[in-house]
Parts: sequence; structure tokens; C-alpha cells
Amino acid sequence: MTMATVIPAPVSRVSGEGDFSLTAATTVGGEPAVASYFAGLLGLGVGAVGEIQFTLGGAPAPGGYTLVVAPEGIRVEADDAAALFAGAQTLRQLLPPAAFAPVPRLGHWLVPATRIEDFPRFAYRGAMLDVARHFFPVDAVKRYIDDIAILKLNYLHLHLTDDQGWRIAIDSWPELTGVGAVTQVGGGGGGWYGKDDYREIVRYAASRFITVVPEIDLPGHTNAAIAAYPTLGDVPARPYEGIEVGFSSLAIRSESTYRFVDDVVRELAELTPGPYLHIGGDESLATSDDDFLAFIARATEIAARHGKTLIGWHEMGRSAELPSGTIGQYWGFTTPQEGAAEQTLSFINQGGRVIMSPADVAYLDIKYDQDSPVGLLWANGPTPLPDAYNWDPAEIIPGIEDHQLLGVEAPVWTETIATIGELEWLAFPRLAAIAEIAWSRRAGRQFAEFAPRLAQLGARWDAAGIGFSRVPEVHWLEKVDSP
Ligand code: ACM
Repeated sequence: MTMATVIPAPVSRVSGEGDFSLTAATTVGGEPAVASYFAGLLGLGVGAVGEIQFTLGGAPAPGGYTLVVAPEGIRVEADDAAALFAGAQTLRQLLPPAAFAPVPRLGHWLVPATRIEDFPRFAYRGAMLDVARHFFPVDAVKRYIDDIAILKLNYLHLHLTDDQGWRIAIDSWPELTGVGAVTQVGGGGGGWYGKDDYREIVRYAASRFITVVPEIDLPGHTNAAIAAYPTLGDVPARPYEGIEVGFSSLAIRSESTYRFVDDVVRELAELTPGPYLHIGGDESLATSDDDFLAFIARATEIAARHGKTLIGWHEMGRSAELPSGTIGQYWGFTTPQEGAAEQTLSFINQGGRVIMSPADVAYLDIKYDQDSPVGLLWANGPTPLPDAYNWDPAEIIPGIEDHQLLGVEAPVWTETIATIGELEWLAFPRLAAIAEIAWSRRAGRQFAEFAPRLAQLGARWDAAGIGFSRVPEVHWLEKVDSP
């Protein structure tokens, strides 16, 4: 039997003697949330003590776990449930592809004895979904949450507002979703999350140890908000279904703008158990420099009062008046454009850290090649899989090292896609490359070694029904129809 492989690559792995035999009679025990999640995947029974045991205590490093497979049983040990969950994802990948079927039929699966010690390089490992250009209903978001959990990603950033639509109910400004949510790119109606919808996304993500990071993009990318409430802008706005950016701006010198920021952030912070709230700040091309700086100083001060750590796209680093600890998200290229490195370093100088999302390698809405039926080309595209793999977050901006990096995130913007199928096709396999960059150590990372492991993961995606792109740089296994 060939050794099953794991993505992201674990820190260390040694083989042992013999196999554990997993059958429908195998029981799962230990930490209840992870034990019941894992048992639920395979339809196994749960008890206080099981042959597969998830135990608190004994992590090799923060966020890490130890996984030991022996003929008598399987043990996963970690210091908290989130790290046990990461161990559960590793264990899942040690099983045959059929374990990923929506309703697996257990046979008699041999899991080769092994000892894995593993921990993440970065604490923040994210995926971003733009639900503003096209709206994605709750069920699609839940499916994406399950997809990204396989890769040990632990943050889902939802880009909730943009020129084309406002997607989250704000009770004190009801027309945001009244007028502001009925459009999306290309027409066909929009959509929005009521507060209970949103709470359901947050709850479901938490059950996969994923924290939702909501983004309200300010002061540009606000056409939908201004169409709903004309006093929020200096120039009138109409509902918009195009894809050009950079034309909208909140009215910077109007007090009602700051009441709006306060209300929106307060209501969103109330819906957000996680520590982070993203307030955009990118591409404010219709806002003068002075106005941008005045807005950022005031809006961040208001937003920070609601108790969250703020995140902004790197242009927000133009401000020297950020609340201490504000996180910058870099979306420039792997060779930074004019000003982008300085703007990103500004967050570090103001006590914050940085999330790396370099657009030419980590924006997964960019086409794989010229023939991709969906996707865009603007970010030095196309972006074939090896490009998404062959970069390092500590090698982009001189002066930014691992300890100043909060982590890595792969956005998917949705100008050209409207369904979960199209989303999965663009995200996978490239999201596996980004997840390995975010989790695994730098040393020894090589595409030639990654590609065969990815083929194994592809067989599991096939079993799960994840419609990934069979890019030519990988020798994918033939798709077998489930029995
Ligand atoms: C961005 O792509 N405008 C963050």
C-alpha cells in the first residue's frame, strides 16, 4: 500500500510497524467537539474513550499536535481543540479517498503506523470570499468552509460590501440591504445575509475551528451604500452591475458618514465573536489624499472603540494615525509596486502585523491560463499552479520577517463567478499551495515534491465531489466513480 500523503506537509513524520485497522466498529473518544466531528465524518460511534482518541495536552509547539497511529489505536494530542482539529484533518488524509465521500461506506481500511509531529508556521491561515460582486448563499459558504477546513485554514474573510452590493443586514440602516443588495455583477439579482443567516455562517465556521473576519470596505467601494443612502456620498449613485472599480467615495466631510461607520461597525462587532474586523481602505481613487487620511484617522478611531482589532488593505498604511496593532493586508505583487512596501511596513511601525495576499500569486480568481473559462487576468495573470506555490511571504517586502507576519490569505474575487462549482474550480488546487505556504516550514518546499502529494489529495477531492481544476502540471489520478 502506498503511503498516504498530507497537505499541508507536516513538520515531521516517521513510519512505524504495522497498521491500524479502521472499520465501522471503530470508536472515537476524547475532546468532545473534535471527537464528534471526526466520528460524524465517517459515521463512527463516539464514547469517552475510543480506539481513536483526541486528547488535550502534549502539543509539540503552539497550534501543533502529535498524531500516533499504531496497530492498537490512534492518538492525537494537542493543547487546544483547534489544534486537535488540525490533527483530525491530517488523520483524514491518511485514510483512503473513499473517506471523503459525503456518506462514506466503511470497509476495512488499513492506516499505516506512523508518528507525526506538526505545528503551523503562521497563526493566521485564511481564505477570502467576495460575496459582494456575486452573492453566495449560506449553503455555498458552508460548503466552502468545509473545503478550506481540509487544508487547515482557520480564517474565512468575507468581503461583504462593494460597489455592486451590500450583503449584511444593518438594522439601523435598513436600505443598505433594501436598495443596496438587489444588484450584482451582470444582473440577475443580488442577495444578502440577514443577521440570523450570518450568525449561522459564524457558528458553522466555528464548528470547523474557523473564525469569520467580516469586511466592510471603506471609504471607496461604497457605491451600493451610497445608492441606498444618497447623503453618504458627495455625488449621486445608482445601483451598479459592472466590474470597474475606484469611482465611489463616502462623503468625508459629512457627519452622517461617521454615524454610519459607528452604527455599521457596532452592529457587525456584535455579530462577530472573532477578534478581527476588516474595514477595507483599498483603491480609494475617488477620495483625495487629504480626505483619505482624515477619513482613516477618524473611522479607525471609531471602529476600534467597538473592541475589535482592525485589518485594512495595505493602502491604509498611508495613515500614521492607526490604532496600535492594526493589521495590514498586502495585496501588491511579489515585486512590490511603488509605495506598497512602505505602506505595508507602516502597520508594523504602528505596532501591527501583516497578512500576505500578493495578488500575482495568491489571488485565486486569476485564470490558470489564457483558456480558463472563468477568471480575470489583471494581476500579472494568468497564475498557473506552480506560481501559486513558488513564493514565500517573508521574501516579498525587505524588513518583514516571520514574526511580523500574522499570516497568509488567498482571496477569491467574484467578478466572473457566481456558483460554488466555479468557486471550487478556481480555488482548487491553488488553495492547497497557499495553505502549504501558510502552514508548512519553508525549508525543503519544492513544487516537484508537492505535485505528487497533490495528486493524492485530488483523489480525495474527487471523492468529496469538489470540482477542482485538473491543471496540467500535476499527474492527477483517474477519477473513480464511487461504488
Ligand atoms: C483589492 O484587490 N482591491 C484589495
